[in-house]
Amino acid sequence: MARITATRRLPEGGLEPLRAAGHDVIESDDDRVLSAAELADAARNSDALVCLLTDRIDREVLQAGAGRLRVVANVAVGYDNIDVAAANEFGIIVCNTPGVLDETTADLAFLLILAASRLAHDAEDDLRKGRWDGWGIMQYLGRDVHGATIGLVGYGRIGQAVARRARGFDMNVLHHTRNDTGIPGWESNLDRLLESSDIVSLHVPLSDTTRHLIGARELSLMKPTAVLVNTARGPVVDEEALAIALENETVFAAGIDVFEREPRVHPRLLTAPRTVLLPHIGSGSIETRTRMAVVASEGALAVLAGESPTNAVTRVP
Ligand code: DGY
Repeated sequence: MARITATRRLPEGGLEPLRAAGHDVIESDDDRVLSAAELADAARNSDALVCLLTDRIDREVLQAGAGRLRVVANVAVGYDNIDVAAANEFGIIVCNTPGVLDETTADLAFLLILAASRLAHDAEDDLRKGRWDGWGIMQYLGRDVHGATIGLVGYGRIGQAVARRARGFDMNVLHHTRNDTGIPGWESNLDRLLESSDIVSLHVPLSDTTRHLIGARELSLMKPTAVLVNTARGPVVDEEALAIALENETVFAAGIDVFEREPRVHPRLLTAPRTVLLPHIGSGSIETRTRMAVVASEGALAVLAGESPTNAVTRVP
């Protein structure tokens, strides 16, 4: 019987595969983010960690687990919170949750595309605060989504799920990836994609090459009528540069679900006009979050059984 620590509370049934296999599952009874020392302690005393993107699983935590800890299963598709190189070094397998949150995250990206383009937040805010004094032909004039050109930066499973939705809106779909996808709409040059899109939606993982991929220069290439949507990772966008672009009306609007220093949001972004801000809820449906926890648990279970999980992001020894 192995000992598994889940660092935070998970949706009901999420840890069931591990319990059903008879393992000793330690589940947090509150939903607090553990401190670095508590994470190191959990790593030291567990065969598996089931963790979340709010847990910084760095070299120190992994080193504390070295010798006993066999697997870190992240309940997220992104795993930039984990030092994967260190995990490799200590022979600890890292798993994530690919494939189960694509449609739900694409739904949310589309919600932001629509809400930001049609100024839904500003309009609702006025209505709720009693500032709406009746219909006016010049009020809340947004931008059409149907028929617009959407530029997808990154074209993995989530980008492709957004593309399917965009086609239903009669949009012209472009996508940028480093390697030719061979799919119509591929644009090799990010600058060109930014210049020609009415809506730019980001779907790249966070890495050293994608940090601040969209900064002041890139924003200045976008049309002043364009909308930026980020459901990927906050640091892919320079938040201050985005706030300035919105204030100066050099981009039209933004829909943002992820932030550079979560849970902090850049104060200028909080007050920037024509901006829809959501607290990182891209995968946030009951069905999807439950499935994510189950997939992470299944990955941990496979490692503990000496098998190769299909959702491993690190080399399996
Ligand atoms: C992920 O999985 O990486 C999302 O950001 C949270 O669902």
